[in-house]
Amino acid sequence: MTLSPLTKLAVVGAGSVGSSLAYAAAIRGSANTIALYDLNTEKVDAEVLDLAHGTQFFQASHVTGGSDIECVADSDVVVITAGARQKPGQTRIDLAGANVDILSSLLPQLLQQAPNAIYVLVTNPCDILTTAALQISGLPTNRVMSSGTVLDSSRLRWLVGRKVGISPRSVHSLMIGEHGDTEFALWSSATIGQAPLRDWTDEQGRRVFTPKLLDELEHEVTDAAYRIIKGKGATNYAIGIAGARIVEALLGDHHAVLPVSTMLDNYRGISGVALSVPSVVGRRGVERTIEFPFDEREDRLLHKSADALLAVQRSLGL
Ligand code: LAC
Repeated sequence: MTLSPLTKLAVVGAGSVGSSLAYAAAIRGSANTIALYDLNTEKVDAEVLDLAHGTQFFQASHVTGGSDIECVADSDVVVITAGARQKPGQTRIDLAGANVDILSSLLPQLLQQAPNAIYVLVTNPCDILTTAALQISGLPTNRVMSSGTVLDSSRLRWLVGRKVGISPRSVHSLMIGEHGDTEFALWSSATIGQAPLRDWTDEQGRRVFTPKLLDELEHEVTDAAYRIIKGKGATNYAIGIAGARIVEALLGDHHAVLPVSTMLDNYRGISGVALSVPSVVGRRGVERTIEFPFDEREDRLLHKSADALLAVQRSLGL
């Protein structure tokens, strides 16, 4: 990653996700300056110091931060990770009320410091919080998104690649919809290299990805966070680097196709809800979404995901 000249990333929340995202961004040089902000002075000062001690080895030039919100001033991208996190057995949607309240208080303060930034929600339920952030901020839809299913798609690509001994970088498959229980895989357009995934065969010429295996892989992705949270209390590494990747696409003006969660406007007839669909991400934020043929199952599941989140939005008055 060639270092973006004098760009600033603010990471809000110095918990395991925020600190991991800042760490990944520092190593990769996702931004020139990385500021970590949290209300907990002792915690954030320790995280900033621990990160700054590695500056010699980072691609990023500066790691700063603290508990004074002015540390996020003039950021180009603000990634919000602050909020209540899932406990074992909790769904991401269970966090909606509490984290919308936290966002309602936090976002106006951040906008005062970084009025021109692009905002990326990582806090869950990130799709719902994207809608809330748009309403709170009044920002245009291209400048507010969430990490959505970028992480879930990385999980899927790793699982598929492991199955056939191929690098996840050469597995082109996406999870889309809610970053949560109603997400699903776009199998109909998935490829390994240029080969349609569904046609992939083993040495004996047998089709590898049977309908049963596709269902198992998809479930393994939707179950992944629950499994990790049960074992270690939270997920942080993969979401951290997925967030750094999104920041790079923004600050590097990559025009990269990523399944970030964005407010949909008549995407396959869906509007008024933020969901992850293939989106072009560059310096202006979400530049456009990409529509292409879905099979009947995929179209049905995208509408099911939208309906589930619209119901949550209505229950919260969003
Ligand atoms: C996960 C969290 C980031 O899926 O929602 O790990």
